[in-house]
Formats: sequence, C-alpha cells, structure tokens
Amino acid sequence: MPAGLHVPRLAVLASGRGSNLQALVDAVARGELQASIAAVYSDRPGAAALQRARDAGIPALALDPAGYAGREAFDAALFDRIAAAGADFVICAGYLRLLGAEVAEAWRGRMLNIHPSLLPAFKGLRTHRRALAAGVTEHGASVHFVTADLDGGPVLAQARVPVLAGDDVRVLAARVLAREHPLLVRSVDLLARGRARLCDDGVYLDDAPLRAPLQLAANNRLA
Ligand code: GRF
Repeated sequence: MPAGLHVPRLAVLASGRGSNLQALVDAVARGELQASIAAVYSDRPGAAALQRARDAGIPALALDPAGYAGREAFDAALFDRIAAAGADFVICAGYLRLLGAEVAEAWRGRMLNIHPSLLPAFKGLRTHRRALAAGVTEHGASVHFVTADLDGGPVLAQARVPVLAGDDVRVLAARVLAREHPLLVRSVDLLARGRARLCDDGVYLDDAPLRAPLQLAANNRLA
C-alpha cells in the first residue's frame, strides 16, 4: 500500500477458541489483508482468542457482562473502547453474545459477522447439529453485515461444503471451519478495501448491487 494511505483498523470480537481471529492475524502477517488488527475484545476472560491476540502483539481485553447492568450498558462500554481504539470496522469472529440494536445501527455497514450455516438457514446456535437433523446435503458458512436482525443482516459471502454420509457434528464442524477461515479473510478484505458496502437496499460490490452472496471457490477466491 502506498505511503500515506490509511490502513483500515479492525476490532475483532471473539468469545472462544479464536481460530477465525488467527486466520485474520495470519492473513495480515502474510500481506494478504491490507489492514491492522487494532484490538481484540471478548465477553469471556478465559477465551483462547485473547491469548492468540497477545501472542501476536495485539491488545486484548475481556469485559465481563456480569459487571454491567444489562445488554445496553455492556455494549456501550465495549463499543466506547472500540471507538477509542480508532477502529474503522468491527469483525465478529465467533462472538457468541447478542449485540443490541443500538450498536448494530451505529456500526451499520462497518460490522461483519461469520455464522456457521448457509444463511438464511439455521440462524442461531447449534447449526451443525440442526443441519444434520434436517438431513440437508449441503451446509457451510456465511459472512453477513450485522444489523439489528439477529443473523439476519445482508449476506456478503458464503462457503459451501457437502454433508456426507456418516458425518457427525464434530466432522461436519471441522469441514465447515476449514472453509470459514478463507471466507472470513476474503470478506474482510473486500470490506477493508471499500469494495463491499452496505446501502439501504442491500450489499454493493464495486458499486453494483450484489444480487446473490459471493461464493468461495476451491482456490479460496470469492466469485
Ligand atoms: C465458528 O464456527 C464461527 O462461525 C462461529 O463460532 C465458531 C468460532 O470458532 N460463530 P473460532 O473461535 O473462530 O475458532
């Protein structure tokens, strides 16, 4: 990137293991993602994601929801810090706490979430178990803009995997997760470059309305 250009600053929210965070960290380190990760935040002090961030030299902070009067107070404290860190974008990478409508609106168009299903199918939790129970032959992950509608914001991109005979939750989750990492990196790259935008009537890519979510190809490119 030429000198003088602003490098977009990301705040990453994660509640657990942090493998999606790690994919972003590694992509930045390899120069595949022209962004910097300003800080990582969690709602769980023990989240492995926090240690991954510290190992990469990224400031990491956990806020305990129990210390706040309610969702709004917690969100306000969290997003005050995110704003103070100078974040341009917020990436929810395995963040398991519901976000209130207020911050979803305030950060509209600047916040992405990765969800382990082919939205709009299987919003909410335990997506792999529900996909197996429903007998679908295809499953996957979606990256969408966060809006006040839980897991319902406009979808930017998806990765699809087959559901195979004999799959259990663990096997299927691992197959999806392996595709989540490039899916998230590529999606964040489009956002950080200003190529993907959320307008009133949906997602735009390179100034043209996106008719259907981009799909992650075998070569890890979005098309
Ligand atoms: C991922 O499957 C993500 O889609 C979901 O939670 C999981 C987080 O995994 N929201 P990790 O913490 O990134 O390893």
